[in-house]
Amino acid sequence: MSPGTSVVAVTRMLPGGAVERLRQEPAIAELRVSPHDRPLARAELLEQVRGCRAVVAQLVDRIDDALLDAAGPQLELVANVAVGLDNVDLQACARRGVRVSNTPGVLTETTADLAFALLLAVSRRVVEADAFVRAGKWGAWAPSLLLGADVHGRTLGVVGLGRIGQAVARRARAFGMPLLYAGPREVPAAAALGATYLPLDELLARADVVSLHCPLSSATQRLLDARRLRLLRPTALLVNTARGALIDEAALVVALRERWFAGAGLDVFADEPRVPQGLLDLPHVVLLPHLGSATAETRGAMANLAADNVLDLVQGKPLRTAVAPPGR
Ligand code: DGY
Repeated sequence: MSPGTSVVAVTRMLPGGAVERLRQEPAIAELRVSPHDRPLARAELLEQVRGCRAVVAQLVDRIDDALLDAAGPQLELVANVAVGLDNVDLQACARRGVRVSNTPGVLTETTADLAFALLLAVSRRVVEADAFVRAGKWGAWAPSLLLGADVHGRTLGVVGLGRIGQAVARRARAFGMPLLYAGPREVPAAAALGATYLPLDELLARADVVSLHCPLSSATQRLLDARRLRLLRPTALLVNTARGALIDEAALVVALRERWFAGAGLDVFADEPRVPQGLLDLPHVVLLPHLGSATAETRGAMANLAADNVLDLVQGKPLRTAVAPPGR
C-alpha cells in the first residue's frame, strides 16, 4: 500500500489505545499528538492544526472561524471527543464543507450514573457528612444529625429527555421516583418510562429534583435564569451534568445563598475551570470538575469513536457518527 498523505492533529493525548490505532493507519502520513498534559494554548492549537485533514478535538478546544482559517483548506473533519458540540461552530464548519463528528451513545450510561450520584449525594448530604467525620466533629449518634431528603418517591423532572435524560429516568424508576420531563417536543420513549411531558416552567414548579440533560445552544443558553430559578420549590434540588451555561450562574449563586431552593449538584460550570466563589462557599452544593463521562472505559470508548471517524475519513468510508450540518 502506498503511504498516505493525510495529516491528523490530536489536541490532547487520547486514552484507550486510540492514538496507537491512528498511528498504525497507513493513510495517515503525519500524526501530531499534543505532548502536553494540559489543554493547548490557543496559539499552540492554531499551529498544531495547520495543514491538517482531520483534527481530533476536545471540548475545551474552540473550533471557530479563526481555527478553521489556521487549519486551511485541507481540513475535512473535526472529530470532537464529546457528545456536546457547543465548542464547535457548526455553521462555520458547514460554510467550509468541514464535517463534524461527535461521540454519542458511548457515554450515556456513565453520565447518567454520575447525575444519579450527584442526586444521591446532594439529597443525603454525602459530601458534607464525609467532611464532618474527617473533621473529627462526630461526637455521638444523634437523631437529627445531618438529616437529608428522601430520594425514593420524590418527583424527578428531567429537562431534555434525550439519551442521557432517558438513562437517568430509567435509574429514577428503580428508585420509585415519579417522572416529569420538559423539552422542545414530546418524546415517544417517554411513555415506556412513565414520564409526563410538561412545559418547562410547570416542571420546575412541580419537581422535587430537576436534572438538566439538554444540549447547550443559543436557544438553551441561560435556560434557567433568575425567573425560572425562582419557580423551584423551596425543598427542590437541582442537578446539572450537561453544560454550565444552561444556568445563569450569577443568579444561581444568589438563589442558593438565599435558599430559593434546597441545594444543587453541579458537574459543569459556565466558565470552566472557574467555579464562582459564591458556590464554593456553600455547604448545600456538591461541586465536581466535569466528570460526567470520566471512567477509564468510557473515556477510552469516546477516544476510540473519535479515532474511528478519522479512520473512516482517511479510508474513504462514511463517518459513523457524523453530525448533521445545521439546518438539516
Ligand atoms: C460530553 O461528551 O459532552 C461530555 O460533557 C464529556 O464529558
